[in-house]
Amino acid sequence: MSSKAYDKQDFPVANVRRFLEPGPIVLVSSAYKGETNIMTMGWHMIMEFEPSLVGCYIWSENYSRELVSKSRACVINIPTADMAAKVVGIGNCSGRETDKFAKFGLTAVAASKVAAPMISECFANFECQLHDASLIDKYSLFVWEVVKGHVARSPRYPRTLHYRGDGVFMISGSNTRRYRRLFKPEML
Ligand SMILES: Cc1cc2nc3c(=O)[nH]c(=O)nc-3n(C[C@H](O)[C@H](O)[C@H](O)COP(=O)(O)O)c2cc1C
Repeated sequence: MSSKAYDKQDFPVANVRRFLEPGPIVLVSSAYKGETNIMTMGWHMIMEFEPSLVGCYIWSENYSRELVSKSRACVINIPTADMAAKVVGIGNCSGRETDKFAKFGLTAVAASKVAAPMISECFANFECQLHDASLIDKYSLFVWEVVKGHVARSPRYPRTLHYRGDGVFMISGSNTRRYRRLFKPEML
C-alpha cells in the first residue's frame, strides 16, 4: 500500500474553495502533546473566502475531536482516488488504539503554522486554526480558518473521492470550462 509524495508549492488560502467546493472526502490530521491522528471526513463546507473559513462536522466520539479541541488546530488533507482503500480504513478505526500513520503507511511532515502534521501523500494540505468554537457543543461544527495552503504542482485537477453514502464513492471525472463565460466575474 504505497502512495507517492507530491512536490508542492505555496497556495493562496483565499482560493481554498477551488479544492473544497466540490466536496471531496478529506483526511483531517491532528496532534496534541505528542499524540497524532488522522480521521476521514465528508461533512465540510466553505463558509468564507477572506478570511478563509471552512466548517467541519467532527463527531464527539472521535478521538480526533479530543485532539483538535485541545490543540485548536488541524490540517485538512486532500487524498486522491488511488488512496480510497486507505481513506476507508482510516475512517473505520480509531486513533485511540491505532497509530494510523504507521498502519496506513502515510508520512507525517511538519506543518508551518500548526502543530498538526501534514500527510505527504495527499495532493493538498491546508493548515487550520480554530476560528469559532461557538457551534461545537450544539452541532459538533468546528469553524476553521485556513492559515496556510500547500498544493501539488500537478496535475491541475486530481481525481478525488466524493462519498455518496451506503459505501459508494464517486470519483471526480472530466472538467469543462464551457460555462465559464456565463459567470459574473465576482462569482468565479
Ligand atoms: C467516507 C467517510 C466519511 C466520514 N465522514 C465523517 C465526518 O464528516 N465527520 C465525522 O465525525 N466522522 C466521519 N467519518 C467517521 C470517522 O472517520 C471515524 O469515526 C474515524 O474512525 C474517527 O477516528 P478517530 O477516533 O481516530 O478520530 C467518516 C468515515 C468515512 C469512511
